[in-house]
Amino acid sequence: PPVSLIGAPTDVGAGHRGARLGPEALRIAGIGEALIRRGIDVVDRGNLDGPRNPWQKPVDGYRHLPEVVAWNRAVMDAVAAELRAGRLPILLGGDHCLGLGSITAVARHCRDTGKQLRVLWLDAHADFNTSQVTPSGNVHGMPVACLCGMGPEALTRLGGEAPALRPDEIRQIGIRSVDEGEKRLVQKYGLDVYDMRYIDEIGMKRVMEEALEGVDGNTHLHVSFDVDFLDPSIAPGVGTTVPGGPNYREAQLVMEMIADSGRMGSLDIVELNPIIDKRNRTARLAVDLVESLFGKSTLMRD
Ligand code: ARG
Ligand code: MN
Ligand code: MN
Ligand code: MN
Repeated sequence: PPVSLIGAPTDVGAGHRGARLGPEALRIAGIGEALIRRGIDVVDRGNLDGPRNPWQKPVDGYRHLPEVVAWNRAVMDAVAAELRAGRLPILLGGDHCLGLGSITAVARHCRDTGKQLRVLWLDAHADFNTSQVTPSGNVHGMPVACLCGMGPEALTRLGGEAPALRPDEIRQIGIRSVDEGEKRLVQKYGLDVYDMRYIDEIGMKRVMEEALEGVDGNTHLHVSFDVDFLDPSIAPGVGTTVPGGPNYREAQLVMEMIADSGRMGSLDIVELNPIIDKRNRTARLAVDLVESLFGKSTLMRD
């Protein structure tokens, strides 16, 4: 399908500033041109508008909640419009709190069109905190919990009804940092987590086969790609690095196997922080991986 790029230049959900520059870093790294080279029809919708980052301390367990709500509304509406038009939205973040708006729109689209939804959450973190257990108050650590119905109404009911997502619709891959209280919630909700230990033990190929199991011709696959998923040795340009992530080859395989499924219908690229990067190398790596997501391969494939 044709692709629409949507920039959401904000870091209101994060504990570091700089992810607001993610959309421009990805554009400068050539994300649009790379997709056009693959023969894809691409429109860049430019950047969404929203409140500035007030850079305040958390209030009642949430930092910048009104600003997070405003940005997520804008993202939800923009993503919904692209899906309605039959286009594949690529959300250029921005921090990962925006996954909430994006996936709320995708989930509603799937209910409306009778599609099965599968979310692949590529991340070092589970992002399953609540205001009671969060160590930071940063809402980018909470979007999955909000999608599953845990959180403030303004976020859990962003799309009207709650929960937007059932835990069995999501698979988390690359996880290696889960906070103490968060672990209990992950367990309680029965989230499907392919953590790094599991990846080490059975290998990325089998992990992806399991994560994609049941994906069929009626499935809308949403990929939420937090760039801190990648090992920091190859992707230093993120605010919350965690050692021991997938290496370059493993990351390529993830993207190639998603491409092979032929079912990706929407994508988030979040948490890229060019302020702490080296010569935009993390954005360039992200674009390289996006090319694989859209079917670039070494040899002809059938
Ligand atoms: N678990 C930590 C927290 O809740 C870090 C979350 C990082 N999330 C992210 N999307 N980078 O504060
Ligand atoms: Mn559709
Ligand atoms: Mn994340
Ligand atoms: Mn993360």
